[in-house]
Amino acid sequence: MNLVSLSEVLKSAEDGGYAVGAFNANNLEIVQAIIESAVEERSPVILQASQGAIKYAGLEYIVSMVRTAAGNAGVPVVLHLDHGTDFAQVMRCIRHGFSSVMFDGSALPLEENVAITRNVVEIAAAVGISVEGELGKIGGTEDEISVEEKDAFFTDPAEAERFVNETGIDALAVAIGTAHGPYKGKKPEIDFPRLERIRELTGIPIVMHGASGVPDEDIRKGIQLGVRKINIDTDIRQAFTKGLHEFIRANPDNIDPRKMLAPAKKEMKEIVKSKMRLFGCCGKA
Ligand code: G3H
Ligand code: 13P
Ligand code: ZN
Repeated sequence: MNLVSLSEVLKSAEDGGYAVGAFNANNLEIVQAIIESAVEERSPVILQASQGAIKYAGLEYIVSMVRTAAGNAGVPVVLHLDHGTDFAQVMRCIRHGFSSVMFDGSALPLEENVAITRNVVEIAAAVGISVEGELGKIGGTEDEISVEEKDAFFTDPAEAERFVNETGIDALAVAIGTAHGPYKGKKPEIDFPRLERIRELTGIPIVMHGASGVPDEDIRKGIQLGVRKINIDTDIRQAFTKGLHEFIRANPDNIDPRKMLAPAKKEMKEIVKSKMRLFGCCGKA
């Protein structure tokens, strides 16, 4: 099966009231773990390449691996650029065969974010590629956002309405209290009334970033309120590391990388499948 666009899988998610997992892929074993999980769960799936992934593996390898995996999968697979901040890189991803891109202009002044995102949408739409935009600042779990800072960092619903109308994006990434990285014991405080208002005013699929470690009941509530794409990276990194550590501890004399990476892949598949079940996308492909 060819890669499909983000808007195609999110349209079915809207109709069915579920969300689709977007999992960060950096190497062969991660790509295989994500695709095999999708196949075994009969789920649509989004594989996304971050700035770090592109630096690590290069665009050509990422596209080749994901295309090969998707070709035999028999489930809808989206290849998405995660947090693209450079217009030229977004264009390169489209040219290399990504079926969806994120332009993250959240660090730019609003007018500039609107102008570049709209330009990306015009070009991408002409060739059937979807676009995710971002409004508000989704930080890292190490950034402490105080109550007073909330309004400055979190997505403003009225601004979101304007942003969506003026750019024509297919999905909107929002800052509502989640953050990238491990939450380290503290629970994220999600501003659900804000999420509800953003969804009411924009009516488009909402993207939850920094979803690793978000409690299951908060994920379910988010989906009820219109979250349709859920980004998971840290949970996969932790599963990979756990599988690898355990194997090396138990087999200190092994020198075969394939044997070391098998338990890492097994751990990753377990977490990816459990997220798919939580998001409600199993059996939808
Ligand atoms: O959005 C951030 C992701 O967790 C990816 O981060 O650029 O280190 O791969 P990375
Ligand atoms: P986590 O690493 O916190 O899961 O966030 C992933 C993400 O939002 C990628 O864009
Ligand atoms: Zn993110």
